[in-house]
Amino acid sequence: MNVSIKTPDDIQKMRIAGRLAADVLEMIEQHVKPGVTTEELNRICHDYIVDVQGAIPAPLNYNGFPKSICTSVNEVICHGIPGDKALKSGDILNIDVTVIKDGWHGDTNRMFYVGEVPEHARRLCRVTQECLYQAIRLVKPGARLSDIGAVIAKHAHANHYSVVEEYCGHGIGLGFHEDPQVLHYPGYNARNDLELKEGMTFTIEPMINAGKKHTKLNMKDGWTVTTKDRRLSAQWEHTMAVTADGVEVLTARSTEQEFRRNWS
Ligand code: MF3
Ligand code: CO
Ligand code: CO
Repeated sequence: MNVSIKTPDDIQKMRIAGRLAADVLEMIEQHVKPGVTTEELNRICHDYIVDVQGAIPAPLNYNGFPKSICTSVNEVICHGIPGDKALKSGDILNIDVTVIKDGWHGDTNRMFYVGEVPEHARRLCRVTQECLYQAIRLVKPGARLSDIGAVIAKHAHANHYSVVEEYCGHGIGLGFHEDPQVLHYPGYNARNDLELKEGMTFTIEPMINAGKKHTKLNMKDGWTVTTKDRRLSAQWEHTMAVTADGVEVLTARSTEQEFRRNWS
């Protein structure tokens, strides 16, 4: 494991990339409604990232991924490929945006409601967001990676949900996916648990299922991951930096004031 420590200059550049990624999620919100296709959302995000932000959409051609964002609807856990199927009222949608600016990555995702969404689905989205927020609040020098997975699993299980284990958060910086792996369940042992230190940058991105934890990879497209039992899944993601006394969320949106206290 090779966990890099970022300098204040590095983190300033990641702040810029993170802000751009957050801006894309704020920009796209008004376009998420019944009838729009995920390919249309992909096109709007792509053009905004490239033409307005002067940045690069990291997913495009990443290990052969064919689009600029990931769009994951209902039972899709993650890595959904934008396509020509229209969203319909009642769908829940995750949009995952990663931009590269000046070589540095910012990676964030959130859930959106399409039209009128039933309470059971909104509850899954809400609890998953709470899982992310509870984990972020633990991040500070001296905390351990295992603390993150423990609090996420505890909150998910208290709500009778399950935690996806095959996909995890990750270090991030000049690389899209760097060490360490950030598990969302208590999967560490004495050898791979890690003490957090100032200057580490990573994502937390819990994927929480309404039913069982098991996943299924679509072998035809090589990317789309769904729940095995076809029940709903939700995810929320932020990129953050460990600071001297806590955490700075580099992809916080304007609605997330709690996590913007370090912002100028
Ligand atoms: N953004 C995803 C993450 O949170 C990774 C997407 S990889 C892609 O790590 F190739 F599907 F874009
Ligand atoms: Co990520
Ligand atoms: Co992401």
